[in-house]
Amino acid sequence: MSHPPYVIDTMISAKSIAARIEELAGEIEKEFAGTDKLVVVGLLRGSFVFIADLVRELNLPVEVDFLEASSYGDGMESSREVRILKDLRGQIEGRDVLVVEDIVDTGHTLAHVTKYLQSRKPARMRSIALLDKPARREVDFKAYWTGFEIPDEFVVGYGIDYAQRNRNLPFIGKVRFTDAAE
Ligand code: IMP
Ligand code: MG
Repeated sequence: MSHPPYVIDTMISAKSIAARIEELAGEIEKEFAGTDKLVVVGLLRGSFVFIADLVRELNLPVEVDFLEASSYGDGMESSREVRILKDLRGQIEGRDVLVVEDIVDTGHTLAHVTKYLQSRKPARMRSIALLDKPARREVDFKAYWTGFEIPDEFVVGYGIDYAQRNRNLPFIGKVRFTDAAE
C-alpha cells in the first residue's frame, strides 16, 4: 500500500512522556498498594513502548501479559468491530489487573477489551491509556488513568504507528501530509 507524503511534527517530547509516566506510576502504586501480584496487560502492538517504560517505574510485584485486538489495519479509520486476535497466556481470575493501551480514540477497543477481561472475574481491574482523543469518542468510555489528552490529530511514535511505521520514534508526533511538490 502506498501513502501520500507526510512529515512528523513533535507533539509530546520524550522528556514530557517520561515525567508523566513517573507521576502515573506513583498513582498506580497507591491504587494497588499491598497487591501480591499485579498483572499488567499490554494491548499489542501500540502499547509495547509505553508498557516497557511504565513497568520499570512501578515498585510493585508485577507480571506482564499481552493481548491483541483487531484495530486500524493499515489506514487511519477505526474498524469499530473489535475482535480478539491473540489472547492472554495467563489467568486473571481473582487477580489485580492493569490494562495498558496507547490511545483511546473512538473508545471501541478498550471498551470491548475491558468488558471481555471483566468476564474472567479479576479482583480489581483498571485501565491506563497514554493518550486520549475525547473529540473522537463514539462509545462512552474513559480510561481510569490518562497520560495526555490530545486534539483530533493522527499521531505516531513511542510505539504508535502509521501503516506500521514510526513506532520507533522516542516522542509523540503528529502526521502532517505535504504536497508531493514540496
Ligand atoms: P479506538 O478503538 O477507536 O479507541 O482505537 C484505538 C486504537 O486505534 C489504538 O489502540 C490505536 O491502535 C489506534 N489509533 C487511534 N488513534 C490513532 C492515531 O492517532 N495514530 C495511530 N493509531 C491510532
Ligand atoms: Mg492499538
